[in-house]
Order: sequence, then structure tokens, then C-alpha cells
Amino acid sequence: MRIFIFYSNTIRTDGNFKNIYYSGRLDIAINSIIHAFFVSNGLRKNIRFDLYLNGKPVPPRLIRIESDINTPWSKKDISTLLSISLKKYNKKNIKNPFPGIYVDKIDFFDLLDEYKNNGKNIYLLDKDGEFIENIKIENPVFIIGDFLGIPKDIKKKIDSDVIKISLGDINYFSSQVIVILNYYLDKMNFERDIYDTSYKFIYRE
Ligand SMILES: C[S@@+](CC[C@H](N)C(=O)[O-])C[C@H]1O[C@@H](n2cnc3c(N)ncnc32)[C@H](O)[C@@H]1O
Repeated sequence: MRIFIFYSNTIRTDGNFKNIYYSGRLDIAINSIIHAFFVSNGLRKNIRFDLYLNGKPVPPRLIRIESDINTPWSKKDISTLLSISLKKYNKKNIKNPFPGIYVDKIDFFDLLDEYKNNGKNIYLLDKDGEFIENIKIENPVFIIGDFLGIPKDIKKKIDSDVIKISLGDINYFSSQVIVILNYYLDKMNFERDIYDTSYKFIYRE
């Protein structure tokens, strides 16, 4: 499983996404989700995307998305899927609103502890970390920040539990970081299976 934790400081936790700015920059997470899962005419098979939300009004929330060919989504409408998932959880405590989607309320440090206790190594994507090519990537979980990055207090608290890795000295968008990581893991042959979804592709002029 390729595991990404995307930390959002601002995405609304009530699922009321009127527009990009009112939603708390949901667009950044959507671009990241698209690049985590989708390739041309295909869906990656072994992805877990933990969308960790710390925005208003009821933080925290975790929306876990796992590769599932039956998830009713298209890359054109991920916003609705996330909005409905949050609303179902908040109103009716529904934790598995759609195939491949799980919603919960969990402390960020407990989430990392769960992974550590399962033998995972936590790699924090950080421009000032060790260059990725100088590090052996094993049993990885990757943490990626949003446009504000990972809050300083959290970074300080997890410092001794994570390995900071850098993709170089350019400050990339979160979604670009995911693209680069997926490409790097593809080159490593790490969990690179893909569902063929070309049968869904119908183009009409
Ligand atoms: C747009 S950047 C965040 C910028 C934010 N001002 C900060 O200082 O963290 C989004 C996230 O992508 C990751 N990132 C961006 N460029 C990177 C690089 N060159 N190497 C490693 N991670 C990077 C980091 O996790 C960062 O939090």
C-alpha cells in the first residue's frame, strides 16, 4: 500500500463547500487526490490517501480514501464525494459512506502512532530534509502539508518520530509532490498495479 497523509489546516470539516475559497482551499486536496489515484485511463490499485482535516468548525476529521474500483467518483467531481462523506459522518455517524471511503475523528498523533505500531516508517516531506535519493524508502507513510505547511508545533512534536525527506530545493505544490512521489515509487516498482478504466472513457464531439 502507498500511504499518503495530507494535512489540511483549513478545509472545512462540515462539508459545506460553497466554493473554493469558502471551502478552505479544498482545491489543493482535490488536485492531490487526483494525482494520488488517477492515471490516464487507469486507477492506481494500492493507494491509501488519509485526508486529515483541521479546519473549522468541528476539527479534526479524517477522510480515508482507499483504491476501490467501486468508489462512485470521477476526477471531475471529488468535491461532492468529500462533502457528502463529511455530512453523513457529522449528522448520522456513518463511517463508510461509499466503497473505499472511511470517515472518523482521530487525533493526528494517534494516527501516526497507529502506523508506527504497524511497523511503518513515517517520512515527512520537507524541502530542508535529506534528499530522497540518499534515503532507503521502506514501509513508507508520507506526510505532505497544504499551502500553509505542517504547523510548527506539530512538526516539533513529531520531530523524533519522522524522517524528513526532500525532493530538492524547489517549493512544490502538494499535488506536485504526490506526482513526484508516485513517479519515484513507480521507478522503485513499489506497489505499482493499476486498474484499467479505459472502458469508462467515452468521447463525444
Ligand atoms: C506548497 S508546500 C507548503 C509551503 C509552506 N509555506 C511551507 O513552508 O511548508 C506544500 C507541501 O509540499 C511539501 N513540499 C513542497 N516542496 C517540497 C520539496 N522540495 N521537498 C519535500 N517536500 C516538499 C511539503 O510537505 C509542504 O508542506
